[in-house]
Amino acid sequence: MKYFIANWKAHKDLNEVLAWWQTFSDLLKNGQNSEAEIIICPPFPLILSLKEKVAGFKNVHLGAQNISQFDEGPYTGEVGGKNLVNLAEYVIVGHSERRRNFGETDEMLARKTNLALKYNLKPIFCLENESQTIPPGVNMVAYEPVGAIGTGKNEPLEKVLAMKKRLPLNPTIPFIYGGSVDEKNISYYLASSEINGFLIATASLDPTRFYKIVSLA
Ligand code: PGA
Repeated sequence: MKYFIANWKAHKDLNEVLAWWQTFSDLLKNGQNSEAEIIICPPFPLILSLKEKVAGFKNVHLGAQNISQFDEGPYTGEVGGKNLVNLAEYVIVGHSERRRNFGETDEMLARKTNLALKYNLKPIFCLENESQTIPPGVNMVAYEPVGAIGTGKNEPLEKVLAMKKRLPLNPTIPFIYGGSVDEKNISYYLASSEINGFLIATASLDPTRFYKIVSLA
């Protein structure tokens, strides 16, 4: 079994999300992808539009792309763990774009992870290297080298596996790779039993491309 996590970042409006799902779900219904656990992470306001639709597919789940470091309270504009209850099962924590553009530190990410766990959201904890701390309770780690994100320069398998060795990971924790994974290079990574899944942005925006990737699992 492999995880395929679609990270849509700040792309897509409501109509585009619905059209994406229509195409993707038709392909999924007609195909055989028993080995894929699919986690779709739309922007916050669009998660609800897929909730009932994914319910008919036991291998399709929803995730958020971020969670507030603050719990329920007077934090205008924030989206906290409680706000995501019954909407998302997973939440991406510590994506490099959050660390860079929004100044997210190890301490903030530890708070976010705690709050995700408090509200029964499964954190997908992203890191770029072994110097970044994995907070306790994390049960999925995504290694994403910054130079590979959105560049078409996916990291060679040997380097990904070398990083996995350097990380203090419990062997039961799924290890995810992200960075320019697409329909052309996915088979190369799928051949390794050391990689348990993929975090995919650019190639997940098109439902046909994403289905192609998923169908190869
Ligand atoms: P990419 O991005 O698939 O476009 O390289 C991955 C990510 O940012 O999670």
